[in-house]
Amino acid sequence: MSEGRAARHELRIARVVQETADARSFVLDVPPALRECFAYRAGQFLTFEVAVGGATLGRCYSLSSAPGCDDALAFTVKRVADGRVSNWMHDALRPGDRVRVLPPAGRFVLAQEATRPLVLLGGGSGITPLFSLLKTAIATTPRSVRLVYANRDADSIIFRAALEALAVRHPDRLAIHHHLDAERGFLDEAGIRSALGPALDADFYLCGPTPFMNLAETVLRKADVPRARIHIERFISPPDGELPAEIDTPAPEASALPTSITVHLDGGTHEVPYAPGQSILQAARAAGLSPPFACEESYCGSCIATLVRGTVEMAQCHALDASERAEGLILTCQAKPTSAPCEVRWD
Ligand SMILES: Cc1cc2nc3c(=O)[nH]c(=O)nc-3n(C[C@H](O)[C@H](O)[C@H](O)COP(=O)(O)OP(=O)(O)OC[C@H]3O[C@@H](n4cnc5c(N)ncnc54)[C@H](O)[C@@H]3O)c2cc1C
Ligand code: FES
Repeated sequence: MSEGRAARHELRIARVVQETADARSFVLDVPPALRECFAYRAGQFLTFEVAVGGATLGRCYSLSSAPGCDDALAFTVKRVADGRVSNWMHDALRPGDRVRVLPPAGRFVLAQEATRPLVLLGGGSGITPLFSLLKTAIATTPRSVRLVYANRDADSIIFRAALEALAVRHPDRLAIHHHLDAERGFLDEAGIRSALGPALDADFYLCGPTPFMNLAETVLRKADVPRARIHIERFISPPDGELPAEIDTPAPEASALPTSITVHLDGGTHEVPYAPGQSILQAARAAGLSPPFACEESYCGSCIATLVRGTVEMAQCHALDASERAEGLILTCQAKPTSAPCEVRWD
């Protein structure tokens, strides 16, 4: 581990729960000394480092447990065909084993002050952070929740019994709409629109296979739902090894680089020194600030910020799509200024 990177910890697997034929939850034992470090918000994920086949692979898994609702942290993994880490977790990970893991991270969380209804759109394993958000919203807020959950067939529905129990207990606040591909084919635009119902004045959380999320986002944008109300979690694996730069920009003249960056974080504004070669995240941390980050490899999205002024180059940018980049979002773990002045805001 290089100096300055997020701290890794070893946690013990306390229990393994078979949820469906190809999904398992792993309950973690967090010792008292690490409880503060592993405090989390519903919707966040953990990043694991796993040695498989001679390589060390980093993978994120969302917490399916919810703080205040579940005693222990749990994450849920669905097997991916030929996937290295998901299959290793299913085949090799047993109670008592230890896993190497970074503290919780992620921005797929509930806005604390919001009171609007929540609409959760999930497909397959995308239910994991949504389940955590749903439990927290029902237990700690007066918000109503609508879950639209697409699966191959009834046997693939993860957390089916727990979801049904919650719907029975909270019929006035929780509505669950299951879509089964085996019965009605893949969800299409009309299917999503009808599953959403008229309740479009809501906060939307999307997590599932990429085509499903693209479709859901298209339906919401066509219905004029503001982008700020649409929250998306992408389940992607990082590429193996070093990649060539995706954004092929000539190296900037040293004289064009800023000597400091203006950083807005946690309600404060800071002028942090910048040394050539540093990422914006590194510069902010070197100045003693604590912006969020986890993987430092461009796939988890925890370090996202808005570029307010200036230009940057990013060696890799897996966690942002083209429209998010066009809106000025950057991955601060990758972004290096290419011009002065440079100003960045963490929201
Ligand atoms: C923020 C976040 C949260 C997530 N939360 C969850 C969660 O809660 N639950 C969950 O199940 N998943 C979750 N994921 C997805 C998870 O991190 C992994 O991406 C997933 O488990 C697949 O990893 P893998 O190692 O098994 O598959 P990989 O080995 O990464 O393979 C993925 C696909 O690529 C193919 N492939 C493998 N190796 C290669 C290669 N060398 N070249 C080309 N193709 C290849 C495989 O056949 C497979 O189809 C999350 C991801 C993110 C970013
Ligand atoms: S820290 Fe994971 S994308 Fe930047």
